[in-house]
Amino acid sequence: MRVAMVGTGYVGLVSGACFADFGHEVTCLDKDESKIERLKTGKMPIFEPGLDVLVARNVEAGRLTFTVDGAEAIRSADAIFIAVGTPSRRGDGHADLSFVYAVAEEIAPLLDGFTVVVTKSTVPVGTGDEIEAILKRARPDAQFAVVSNPEFLREGAAIEDFKRPDRVIVGLEDERARPVMAELYRPLNLNETPVLYVDRRSSELIKYASNAFLALKITFINEIADLCEAVSADVQQVARGVGLDKRIGPKFLHAGPGYGGSCFPKDTLALVQTAADVGASLKLVETTCEVNEARKKAMARKVADAMAGELAGKTIGVLGLTFKPNTDDMRDAPSLEIVPALQAMGAKVQAYDPEGHEARQLLRHVDFKSGPYEALEGADCAVIITEWDEFRALDLDRVREVMRRPLMVDLRNIYKPEELRPRGFTYFSVGRA
Ligand code: UDX
Repeated sequence: MRVAMVGTGYVGLVSGACFADFGHEVTCLDKDESKIERLKTGKMPIFEPGLDVLVARNVEAGRLTFTVDGAEAIRSADAIFIAVGTPSRRGDGHADLSFVYAVAEEIAPLLDGFTVVVTKSTVPVGTGDEIEAILKRARPDAQFAVVSNPEFLREGAAIEDFKRPDRVIVGLEDERARPVMAELYRPLNLNETPVLYVDRRSSELIKYASNAFLALKITFINEIADLCEAVSADVQQVARGVGLDKRIGPKFLHAGPGYGGSCFPKDTLALVQTAADVGASLKLVETTCEVNEARKKAMARKVADAMAGELAGKTIGVLGLTFKPNTDDMRDAPSLEIVPALQAMGAKVQAYDPEGHEARQLLRHVDFKSGPYEALEGADCAVIITEWDEFRALDLDRVREVMRRPLMVDLRNIYKPEELRPRGFTYFSVGRA
């Protein structure tokens, strides 16, 4: 199949490279010339494990190309994927669809022969209808079908998620699109991935409902963690006991500083807006957004409590700034709330993150260090915000030696109290006494 992937952001690039690896002929398009030039020389715009190798292999095989001038690729495509951003619109939390609709306007004059136009971007219910209307208005003569095919890619594990998904969702209104979509995902038949065909609006909603449910699940265990602290229970034991119930499942029950990233915060807000627009009640999701926002601030207070409220003039060593490990993404990272709150209470912050380079633009007055021990040098408190693997097996004796005071607040529960306390640390974590 010939695929044109419009937008080489996170989703477009991973999806394009994976479709090429399935054997399809993929052209990735982007307006950003410098990004395309860098991609042509094998430089990835994002940090995603395995992506550089996957891209190189498929470029080498001639199945994957990058261009700013996609007219020919659009004309000859069997499927055109729209994979551009849908950021939160300033002020109201609605998804901003201007980029999506702009793509529809741009591809319309180029449609040639029957083409499936697929939305990969996360878009509110009804966006597929609007894309169809735009294309019809511009090209009443064109033969096309608009399909919704949401992505469920976790940053840091995106290639695995694309190639071994729990399911593929295809939302369509025009049966001519079905064989095209089936052919695109045919390689997944090998591992018997369920491909669920639904109507387009349901497909659009499945994406939001999935993310909202996962955000709610995390928020639930975070609140249970607070309760655990108050009643001297252990949230990890509780999560394990609860998660073994097959109806609940063990995943997404890790208590922490609150969820961040490019999807959960934005998509939950957009879903709440969609519901408000039609007068439907989505109180659980609304509350999830509120509780999660409040949680990030509460984490700074937790650190302050661990330091007995004495932050003025003290140094805090922060480990991890990205919203989760194995990504360089800083979007809605808990660190963006926690670090300024600690500084506002008078602390000096020095920090290390293996990939969070963008933090230098987003956080002010932070002393960025080149490694974990450097970040903890002379610190009165260590705070783990992101659970990068390299923080999981620190030389604790060395940590104690470099710190001014052996105090650790572990917001990801990567250490055990019984490991830290005998080594002389005062140790606080999430949801454990
Ligand atoms: C998410 C969805 O998982 C993916 O399907 C969707 O398409 C995009 O959004 P992503 O944002 O990359 O993926 O990361 P994910 O692993 O889901 O984590 C999201 C946030 O939740 C992170 O801040 C993470 O630290 C937090 N989280 C996750 C927890 O605090 N506890 C958990 O148990 C799981």
